[in-house]
Amino acid sequence: MLKAHAIHKKYGQLEILKGVDLEVNKGEIVSIVGASGAGKSTLLNILGTLDTPDAGSIHINNIEVSRLNNKQLSNFRNKHIGFIFQFHHLLAEFSAIENVCMPAFIAGKAKHAAEKRAGELLELLGLEHRVHHKPAQLSGGEQQRVAVARALINDPALVFADEPSGNLDSANARELHELFLKLRNDFHQTFVIVTHNEELAELSDRRVFMKDGLIQ
Ligand SMILES: Nc1ncnc2c1ncn2[C@@H]1O[C@H](COP(=O)(O)OP(=O)(O)O)[C@@H](O)[C@H]1O
Ligand SMILES: [Mg+2]
Repeated sequence: MLKAHAIHKKYGQLEILKGVDLEVNKGEIVSIVGASGAGKSTLLNILGTLDTPDAGSIHINNIEVSRLNNKQLSNFRNKHIGFIFQFHHLLAEFSAIENVCMPAFIAGKAKHAAEKRAGELLELLGLEHRVHHKPAQLSGGEQQRVAVARALINDPALVFADEPSGNLDSANARELHELFLKLRNDFHQTFVIVTHNEELAELSDRRVFMKDGLIQ
């Protein structure tokens, strides 16, 4: 599903990634752990094509993403990759279902089809009574579940999450983690998750440790 080889990244003189290799199989939940500043977010953004490496190759679904131009890349990202961040980054002016539909509209999906799928996802995530709420009218856990639905709307090959439960209390964090497991078990969804949460790292299929710009 994901094959990253010899990923290097520098910011100025600072070498953040020094040749990272990582492979992730379909239906696998891989967590990336390590000290703050180790380069976990940098790596996740590069794997998720939000940022480009200085050297190295990334294959997702057998497509070498490092060879795509900007337009192809944003297209690819929209269709094949979902993101969940520590802060939900929902659009405040839009309802839950409108937020979830957004990536589908960008992909050119018809309104009716997008709304149908968004409704199904919100129901799957236990939010069927919250579809028309704006983000500010939702709890932190609910906001994050809307963000999960948004990440899933285009049936991505991979979901990348950066500290997804970092802003949640322990009960909501647990609920979110169980949701990831359910999505993996029921739909073979693949996840790469940066986390400080011991419980989440523990329930992953594999934990990789980042230190000194490398995966140990
Ligand atoms: N855009 C940037 N410009 C310069 N330095 C950056 C940038 N992004 C991250 N860094 C630096 O790279 C290092 C790794 O950052 P990051 O990947 O966010 O670490 P982590 O997510 O593991 O805490 C840090 O020292 C950070 O200050
Ligand atoms: Mg980080």
